[in-house]
Amino acid sequence: MNKNIMEYETVELDDNDSSVVIIDQTKLPGTTEIISLHTAKEIWDAIYLLKVRGAPAIGVAAAFGIYVLSKAFVGETDFEKFYGKFREQKDYLNSARPTAVNLSWALNRMEALCLKAGREEGKPVKEVVELLHREAVAIKEEDTWVCKTIGEFGLSLVKPGDGILTHCNAGQLATSKYGTATAPIYLGQERGYHFRVFADETRPLLQGARLTAYELHASGVDVTLICDNMSAMVMKNGWVNAVFVGCDRVAANGDAANKIGTSVVAAVAKRYGVPFYVCAPTSTIDYDTPTGEQIEIEQRPAREVTEMWYKERMAPEGVKVFNPAFDVTDHDLITAIVTEYGIARAPFMESLLEIRRKKEKGNQNS
Ligand code: MRU
Repeated sequence: MNKNIMEYETVELDDNDSSVVIIDQTKLPGTTEIISLHTAKEIWDAIYLLKVRGAPAIGVAAAFGIYVLSKAFVGETDFEKFYGKFREQKDYLNSARPTAVNLSWALNRMEALCLKAGREEGKPVKEVVELLHREAVAIKEEDTWVCKTIGEFGLSLVKPGDGILTHCNAGQLATSKYGTATAPIYLGQERGYHFRVFADETRPLLQGARLTAYELHASGVDVTLICDNMSAMVMKNGWVNAVFVGCDRVAANGDAANKIGTSVVAAVAKRYGVPFYVCAPTSTIDYDTPTGEQIEIEQRPAREVTEMWYKERMAPEGVKVFNPAFDVTDHDLITAIVTEYGIARAPFMESLLEIRRKKEKGNQNS
């Protein structure tokens, strides 16, 4: 019997095979193909080509990736030589996609551990590599806890029977488990909340149709797929009580980068008085970026808009195409930012700092 998509791990480590194992998300929903990534180029390509995508999942893949690549240098006796090679691979993986801060967050966390163990504490390279293994596994395990906790906070913002709209895929396929924007939906499903969910298809790469509608439907959630240009109609009709979206980088002032089209949904939600919630693991908050203006937005190839998904080209040859992968939702359109350390509301400059303080103290009360 075919396995349900929810039974697969989004990203796994196969330590015996020294590989990062992922579901190739470009083939979903038609084909569930599990692939093993061994080389730096394979890992880089998988991230760039969106075989593994979604900010937290990219972070986990990069952490496993840098561990697997470090294993190849385990025979190196001089830590500085080992670190030089580690750094080269780290910088390469980090260049795969610029907007999702979880990529550099996970790689920086791995590097900090490497330097502490090898340079500061003088541990042998073999032991450093073992610690890198442990850290990568911890990054994945923490992600499940983070998503579940975001789900609990998110669930406190809605009530049984509510209509929820989401954009792109901030679901289980974008994380280790539960997703971020979908976590309240999955927890509500377990508790009989009977949400009615609207999934935007999310042009041009259709993460909403191919991934969100797929995983929610496979989980038995009442999900309705809509085209991106239908969100105003469903909100005007009064069918949506809350919008939950994920994010790729939140600036210190609360401006939030997420999949292209998110800011349109936020503007429409404001127009119709629907609360707009951004679900953000604290690993996605970039306190070093003051506002959304400084967030680098990834530009993608024109063919994603003009011909991918179509039987034949749907735009004239040579036409100019603008294809940014993300946009920034201004903080004044955001009702609240839901993190694993509580719910931040305006003014975000202060409330996000309060979230950081709670994290440092390990205090989760909102
Ligand atoms: O280009 P993608 O598919 O990686 O974009 C994904 C998103 O925009 C998600 O909403 C975001 O990464 C959060 S995933 C929990």
